[in-house]
Amino acid sequence: MNATTATLAAAAATTAAAAAAPVGERRLLDGSSRRDLAAHLARYGPLPSSGRADVLALVEAAGLTGRGGAGFPTSRKLRAVAAGRGPAVVVANGTESEPASGKDRVLMTYAPHLVLDGAQLAAAAVGATRAYVHAVADETVLASLHRALDERRGSRLDRVPVTVTVAEDRFVAGQETAVVAQLAGGPALPRFARPPVYARGVDGRPTLVQNVETLAHLALLARFGAPWFRSVGTPDDPGTRLVTVGGAVARPGVVEVASGTTARALLGRAGGPAARPEALLVGGYHGTWLPAEAVLDVPLVRSALAAYDANPGAGLVAVLPAGRCGLVETARVVRYLADQGARQCGPCVHGLAAVADAFEQLAAGRPQRRTVADLQRWCGILPGRGACAHPDGTVRLVRSALRTFADEVGRHEAGRCSGSDPRPVLPVPNPGGRR
Ligand SMILES: Cc1cc2nc3c(=O)[nH]c(=O)nc-3n(C[C@H](O)[C@H](O)[C@H](O)COP(=O)(O)O)c2cc1C
Ligand code: SF4
Repeated sequence: MNATTATLAAAAATTAAAAAAPVGERRLLDGSSRRDLAAHLARYGPLPSSGRADVLALVEAAGLTGRGGAGFPTSRKLRAVAAGRGPAVVVANGTESEPASGKDRVLMTYAPHLVLDGAQLAAAAVGATRAYVHAVADETVLASLHRALDERRGSRLDRVPVTVTVAEDRFVAGQETAVVAQLAGGPALPRFARPPVYARGVDGRPTLVQNVETLAHLALLARFGAPWFRSVGTPDDPGTRLVTVGGAVARPGVVEVASGTTARALLGRAGGPAARPEALLVGGYHGTWLPAEAVLDVPLVRSALAAYDANPGAGLVAVLPAGRCGLVETARVVRYLADQGARQCGPCVHGLAAVADAFEQLAAGRPQRRTVADLQRWCGILPGRGACAHPDGTVRLVRSALRTFADEVGRHEAGRCSGSDPRPVLPVPNPGGRR
């Protein structure tokens, strides 16, 4: 055991003695009401004071990965920012711009101190002198965050000052370069990430943009240690994750599950399917449609989902019930995504609108002879050409719909549709309206 590991083990043991480590898979959300600072400290104990090396070693040992979509190893990001020139900035990304997602709102509302503790630890790890919580424009969320900052004032918990900022309401506003652009006073639009934000972000400083859930896990990891963190989940995807479960389930909402939980068990936590599931949307609107029967028993982790060209993404699973048309659902979402593109780069300006038009024709049962072939071709040329991954994510959704609903595509080409219920399943803001 080296000196750092010994310090951490001692800190974790002291904290564990003061407050019992959460057992099982309810770690971040194990109560039904907001935890104020007193309740937070009573439940989890004080935050061990950690230095830069401590936090970096801890995150590496725990194998924590980002919960904002890409699943990037958090230790690599922390090291990259820590290696930057001059004092850094930490941004807790609570934009949650995905319309069907609610996990970050729930976390910031019920457990704001976990997010704030995590931001302080991350600041220690990267040598930051200030931090932001960049949060969705939701009154309940913002009130909870502001109250949490008031509760901490004078408590000496915070080594760096934290400011709450309000994210713009657009799908791409949560992308990290868009977050940095908004904090610089401009519109929340992504830019080509050269230089990357970890080297030059807010005010030209090395900047760590980390999803709020990732930071909340860090807050518990620092208290209870890497072996505790790894005691649930899988070896390559340890810990728990928050998942928003939507569509046709008995109790739609946010649940916390061990990474590697199967879709069947996850739906069980949401009260079970409300109707026979036809398909699952996994990962969000940049995610993948999968045939329900084929994947109900697949663990929802990157390694297992890779075989289906899918990943856990932003922690979202939605159930499409039998009797609804997956092409009609996809057409609505793709139109929304096309309208949300920032119209700065070729694939968004020229590509996504055409994809949305073609998909609408297909969904309406009026495709041209070449519509499906065009969609397949565009899906091949759009990815990798924008300043951000918005076209890539939109194409992933389109491709998966053509694959998973292949039989339905054939019916629509013949002018038929097997959907008997026109009610929408997935939420789309401002349907029919264009920005
Ligand atoms: C179009 C687009 C939208 C995104 N929206 C969010 C968001 O709302 N919240 C978030 O945490 N990450 C979002 N991301 C991912 C961020 O760019 C970034 O990877 C993430 O905040 C990093 O945190 P993590 O490593 O903890 O996951 C988005 C990415 C893209 C391409
Ligand atoms: S790819 Fe699209 S969404 Fe991303 S920066 Fe370019 S125009 Fe904006």
